[in-house]
Amino acid sequence: MNTPELPAANWRTPPEARPDLNFVVKDMQRSYMRMAANLRWYEHTWLGVPIWQLADDLVALQRIVFDANPKWIVETGTKFGGSAIFFASLLAMMGRSSDSGGVITVDIHETREAKALLADQPHRFAPYVRQRLVGDAKAPEVLAAIRQTIAADPGSVLVFLDDWHDGDHVYAEMQVYAELVEPGGILIVADTTFEDLADTPVVVPSEKYPDAKRSNPRAALRRFMAERDDFAVVSDYTSSGISNFPDSVLRRVKGGPA
Ligand SMILES: C[S@@+](CC[C@H](N)C(=O)[O-])C[C@H]1O[C@@H](n2cnc3c(N)ncnc32)[C@H](O)[C@@H]1O
Repeated sequence: MNTPELPAANWRTPPEARPDLNFVVKDMQRSYMRMAANLRWYEHTWLGVPIWQLADDLVALQRIVFDANPKWIVETGTKFGGSAIFFASLLAMMGRSSDSGGVITVDIHETREAKALLADQPHRFAPYVRQRLVGDAKAPEVLAAIRQTIAADPGSVLVFLDDWHDGDHVYAEMQVYAELVEPGGILIVADTTFEDLADTPVVVPSEKYPDAKRSNPRAALRRFMAERDDFAVVSDYTSSGISNFPDSVLRRVKGGPA
């Protein structure tokens, strides 16, 4: 039996007019992130040390560090030392020596856990954490100490900002920490999803965060990017999974360290 010739399918949407469904992917990633961020993500550990990062972000950070191959990783927000040991372990696995370059970590409070891990009973990767600073991440004396350490053993710098997620604070520290990054180098602003979490149990209004919907790392990122043309967003690393910084892995595309 011959199949009759069908009339031209003019009731079909031509391929070029079909909707871009990327927004569905983005919605699902956002929902999944809101779920993951509320489901005890803060109980993750890296080599036995508590680390406050989503599992997918650890893979993303590993890719970023491997590709960028920085001599120095400067992070703000030491907390229990998990991200410092994570970055240190990556440098060790990349075959780096612990006496050239390494991790510099800053926190306004020193936790007992971080002190034990990085100083008193050092973790096996603690030697890669070359400098621990206690102070406000954007204080001039903290920046001066970081610059001094890097100047004594110069090389490329990757910055990971993960301390206080207040919008004005993050904007101010982006400006100063950006100046440590050379063209090709990476600046990551953690928790740009803070805004998306502001109506969920993990981000309740507090003295520290009275209005996280308005004042947050994404607000800082928007302000920074509106004023600068020397940084570009790199989305490759976070686009396939869920991330707390899907829009804020930045590469310096021109200019240079001040
Ligand atoms: C989200 S936790 C860091 C988590 C850590 N990076 C990890 O992955 O395990 C934020 C840290 O920022 C610190 N902090 C808050 N305000 C700060 C500031 N102005 N300067 C430096 N650190 C600050 C807090 O004391 C806290 O330990």
